[in-house]
Amino acid sequence: MRVPVGIDDIAIYVPRLYLELADENHPDKPTEFSQSRKSDPAKYLHGIGIAKMSIPDTYQDSSVLAANAIYELIDRNKLSPIDIARIDIATETGVDESKPVAAYVHGMLEQKFGKGSFKRTSGVEYKFACVSTADALESSLDWAWAGRSNGRCSIVCATDIAKYPLNGPGEPTQGAGAVALLVKENPRLVAFDSVIGTYMEDEDDFWRPLFSTTAVVHGKHSEKCYLKAMEGAVDNWAEQAIASGIIQNAPGESLVDQFGPMSFHVPYPKMAEKGFAYLLRHFWRGLSRWDEVVKEIGIEPKQLGFKTREEFEKAESDYMKHFMETSRFQTEYKDKVADGLTHARESGNSYSASEKSCLSMLLETKSKKNADLVGKRGGSGNYGSGSKAKASSWVLQEDWKTVAKKFGHAEKLQHRKPISLAEYEALHDGTSLPEARKFVSEPENEFVLLDVTPQGYRHYKFTD
Ligand code: CAA
Repeated sequence: MRVPVGIDDIAIYVPRLYLELADENHPDKPTEFSQSRKSDPAKYLHGIGIAKMSIPDTYQDSSVLAANAIYELIDRNKLSPIDIARIDIATETGVDESKPVAAYVHGMLEQKFGKGSFKRTSGVEYKFACVSTADALESSLDWAWAGRSNGRCSIVCATDIAKYPLNGPGEPTQGAGAVALLVKENPRLVAFDSVIGTYMEDEDDFWRPLFSTTAVVHGKHSEKCYLKAMEGAVDNWAEQAIASGIIQNAPGESLVDQFGPMSFHVPYPKMAEKGFAYLLRHFWRGLSRWDEVVKEIGIEPKQLGFKTREEFEKAESDYMKHFMETSRFQTEYKDKVADGLTHARESGNSYSASEKSCLSMLLETKSKKNADLVGKRGGSGNYGSGSKAKASSWVLQEDWKTVAKKFGHAEKLQHRKPISLAEYEALHDGTSLPEARKFVSEPENEFVLLDVTPQGYRHYKFTD
């Protein structure tokens, strides 16, 4: 039998600054941001589901966020460099067109562990918008399943700074963060099934040209691409899972019934909630419970009944909003998905780091609720614009709760500092901070970017 391989531990790094979009206790109270953008804070909180966006300070880039998450993971697990065969980075906001974040991270770690200490550790940078974390993880899993790990582990780290132009529609869906995964045989947290679903096509929903620090996005189109690709990847997963006997649906059962917790790519919480609703509808159609839903909210709109595509899409979107209000939907959503979305509500999008940040928050919250999940199957859905989705599944291991309780995820979100609109705009555009300060918050026990030379070479340091 194949040795179980999966995620043994997770460490998350969240920048310590945040911009408040909406006050969660007083959703209608204007914030500095909503006033300046002449918008309703309730739109941020209820329409897209984001209350705060994490903002990196002047000394932080995607390499620094990654190094901080990885260092915590290594330290907490008392790993020695020789234990780690590879440290792969997933990012779409890398710092160089040639030198990977993996190499800069290597250098930072050697400042702590000694020059040459990681010379037997490989590393590479993966890019495919937000989905590359799934590809990086798949590669690590394959490597271990192929029997090439020889008792060593690997680290997969996703790191990103999500940035759109100021005053544009994408602006309230920014954020930043990194998440590091310890991947090994006989993991304590989750062991992966060998079946992975894929859906890919060439799309123009979102991209960031080489000359730009902010992304170009066709927002409404990107939402449709997300839904379509996610469903396609889950279908592909299901075909393989049924063929290989990983799951078997009894009559009247839905594929989703086979799952406990589920984590998704979360550009903003409402998107993941919608994605889950579309999946439920997809897998509930033809079952008696879907007949019950139809009794409650009416039959689904059909394209033929509408003069234009826009009218049909509006009717379809309204129909799904009604479905999402039903108690049947709400029960499934709260049980399987909602706990993980707190991360994006409190921190925003972190592109490639988003889905595993959602997973970290989901497992930590379930562990604090003392949920009984040993042996239960969970699922992950990743989406990357451009576009590709990946669906994977995993089984919670005996010690998952002990490990997840120690992530410290919620605590990190608590220990952050609000910033003013002026500070946010200066950090966003790389212009001078108010009072010509060098940074907003003093770094503490972490890697920082010291400078970038005129030739573009970057120097980093650990500050005590
Ligand atoms: N109270 C409650 N809800 C409100 C409201 C209020 N006062 N005012 C508006 N809303 C609701 C709207 O009804 C709408 O809901 P539905 O989507 O369910 O219809 C929602 O708030 C958003 O409002 P708008 O329709 O006015 O949309 P917008 O112009 O603000 O754009 C967005 C929203 C498309 C998400 C935009 O922020 C964007 O382009 N973001 C970046 C792209 C993105 O994240 N795409 C997601 C899929 S792509 C992906 O996943 C990859 C990735 O990470 C980028």
